[in-house]
Amino acid sequence: MSKEVKNVEYGLEKIFEGAQDFLPLLGTDYVEFYVGNAKQSAHFYKTAFGFQSYAYKGLETGCRDYTSYVLSQDKIRIVLTTPLNSKSPINEHLAKHGDGVKVIALWVEDARKSFEETTKRGARPFMEPMVEKDEHGEVVRSGIYTYGETVHIFVERKNYKGVFLPGFRSWKSDYNPTPTGLKFIDHMVGNVGWGEMNKTVKWYEEVMGFVNFLSFDDKQIHTEYSALMSKVMSNGNGRIKFPINEPAEGKKKSQIEEYIDFYESAGVQHLAVATDDIVNTVKELRARGVEFLSAPPKSYYEEIPKRLGVHMKMMKEDMNVLEKLAIMIDADEDGYLLQIFTKPLEDRPTLFFEIIQRMGAKGFGAGNFKALFESIEREQEKRGTL
Ligand code: FE2
Repeated sequence: MSKEVKNVEYGLEKIFEGAQDFLPLLGTDYVEFYVGNAKQSAHFYKTAFGFQSYAYKGLETGCRDYTSYVLSQDKIRIVLTTPLNSKSPINEHLAKHGDGVKVIALWVEDARKSFEETTKRGARPFMEPMVEKDEHGEVVRSGIYTYGETVHIFVERKNYKGVFLPGFRSWKSDYNPTPTGLKFIDHMVGNVGWGEMNKTVKWYEEVMGFVNFLSFDDKQIHTEYSALMSKVMSNGNGRIKFPINEPAEGKKKSQIEEYIDFYESAGVQHLAVATDDIVNTVKELRARGVEFLSAPPKSYYEEIPKRLGVHMKMMKEDMNVLEKLAIMIDADEDGYLLQIFTKPLEDRPTLFFEIIQRMGAKGFGAGNFKALFESIEREQEKRGTL
C-alpha cells in the first residue's frame, strides 16, 4: 500500500507516493446513468436530491436515438440517458443491468494521450478519440472499459465554452426545487465478483497509474452473517477515489454478491457525495422522500465518545440529532467524518448514494462497517436475499 506523501488539501500536486504521472486527472467530469425513462428519473433526482436542470439532448436537438438530461448540483454533474427505439444498444445494457451507472467520465488535459497511454497499458477501448464541435468550440473525448460493462470516458474541454458538450443545449425548466447542499463526488465504489478484486486493483495501478492507499479484509469487514473485502484506489492528486469491493465467504450471502446477482455483472455500487452540512442535507432529503438505511442501535451512539477520542471535542453536531437522523460517525487520526447511506435507488438492489461530511478524516467509515452491514442485512432479509 502507498503512503501519503504529505498532509495537504487535495490539489493538483501529487500526494500519493508510487502514483504514476502518465494520466493526469483534473477531476470527475460527469457520471452517466443508463435508465429506462430519463424524463422520470430526472424528475426524481431534481425533486428528491435537489439537482438542477442543466443541459438536454434529444429529438428537439436533432438526436433521434436517445435522450440525455444533464443535472447539476454545485460541482456534481449527472447525465441520465434513455434509448428512443428498440435498436439502440443501450437497450441491451438496460435489459441486463437495469438502471445504473454506465460512464464515470474523467476531466483531462489531453483525451488523445489519455486513450493512448491507457490502451497501451492494456485497457480495452470503448471509444476512439473523437472530436465534437459546435459554435462554442470543441471537446475531445475517448473511452476505455473498466470493471463489468462500466466505462471511463476522458473529457478534454479546454477549447470549449458551451454549457456541457457539443450537441447539448442548456435546459431551462419552470420546475426548480432548491439544492440540498450536495457539493462534489467524494468517491465512487465498484463491486466486482469473486476473486476479481486484486485483478481490478492491478488494472487501476497498471493502466491508470493509481495507488492502493487503504485496504480492508474480510476479518475487518464482517458481521455475524456476511463479509466483504475492499481496497481503495486513488489517482496521484487524490481527487479521484475508487474503492473496489469483492464478496467474501460468510454464513449468509454477502451484500456484494446480492449486487452482482441483480446487476448481473460488476458495476458501480455507490456514489458518495459530499456536503458541508450533513444534518441539514439529510433533514431535507428525508423531507423529500429519500429513504435511508435504518439507524444503528442505541449502543452504537453510546460508544461514539470512546471511538472519537480526542476528536470528540471538535464535534459541533448534536449527538441526539445525529441519532434521530440515523447519521453515522467515524474517526481516524486526522479527524472525524459523518455519513449515511440511502436504500437502493432502483427496484433492483443495486446502486445507492452515500452522503458524507468530512471533518478532517480521510477514511471511508471503517468503524461503521459493522453497523452499516447489519442494517443492509436487515434489508436483505426482507428481500429474501440474505
Ligand atoms: Fe463510501
